[in-house]
Amino acid sequence: MKYTVVLTASYPRIARELLSPHFDVIEHPTEHGRTEDDMITILAEADAAITLLSDPITRRVLEANPNLRLIANHAVGYNNVDLDVARELGILVTNTPGVLTDATADLTMALLLAVTRRVVESDRQLRVDGRCEWDPLAFLGASLQGKRLGILGMGRIGTAVATRARAFGMDVLGIRRGEPLEELLAMSDILSLHAPLTKDTHHLLDAAAIARMKRGAYLINTSRGPLVDEEALCDALDRGHLRGAGLDVYEHEPEVNPRLLTMPNVVVLPHIGSATDEARTAMSRIAATNVLLVLRGQDPITPV
Ligand code: GLV
Repeated sequence: MKYTVVLTASYPRIARELLSPHFDVIEHPTEHGRTEDDMITILAEADAAITLLSDPITRRVLEANPNLRLIANHAVGYNNVDLDVARELGILVTNTPGVLTDATADLTMALLLAVTRRVVESDRQLRVDGRCEWDPLAFLGASLQGKRLGILGMGRIGTAVATRARAFGMDVLGIRRGEPLEELLAMSDILSLHAPLTKDTHHLLDAAAIARMKRGAYLINTSRGPLVDEEALCDALDRGHLRGAGLDVYEHEPEVNPRLLTMPNVVVLPHIGSATDEARTAMSRIAATNVLLVLRGQDPITPV
């Protein structure tokens, strides 16, 4: 009997190439905001599945299919998967660590530079004007040299951001899981978030924490949206307490707080931290390799 592998989205084709010689592969079009019922339907035939970070893999979903042996999440983050239930049911869960570290750290720097140097805002203006006029007072931003970058979460990605920031002459202050936030909030000219979403990190940056940030500081988030209370962030930007924000992730994806969309000092990207040819191909290769190994009765390479 051939196993069935469900791809819940159109992933880079390496996944299908590695899997289809061995298994029945069912590929679904990429879709966001799926419900538990959608997932139960999609995963009905699956012995293993490669899943999107937005697919809710909850108790109901995991219990609905007794054949399911592996959730290979196509992401380094796995907050969409109920790990306790998976463990209880003997379903393995894997992620794709390491291969997207550089891509995500690069995008963090892109956001940091774009916000502090008003890249998107000035690009937009030039398109409207249709001309380029050097103005001694236009589009003044903040320089990075000598500024302090606070990194919340000195894991793989946070550490890679630190290396890049030091090359720009920044002074880096990083904290690891469980370390107090106070100094980081009070001392950072730019704060960049690199922590996973857990019960402990949900709204880590709430109104009170944002109020403790330096006046005129910037916030960069390429981790998970719910780390930040988005309304409180909008309030702080409105008040001018924060000078700008660079966001790749949002509290209620796929929705984006409409207040953010009208602010010229906010750069909003559609969750593209790992979106390079190299990183996405490598992620698909890891996810497919985990499926191959687990359905052959071997250990996956990147269990969580
Ligand atoms: C992207 O957000 C990931 O977790 O891989």
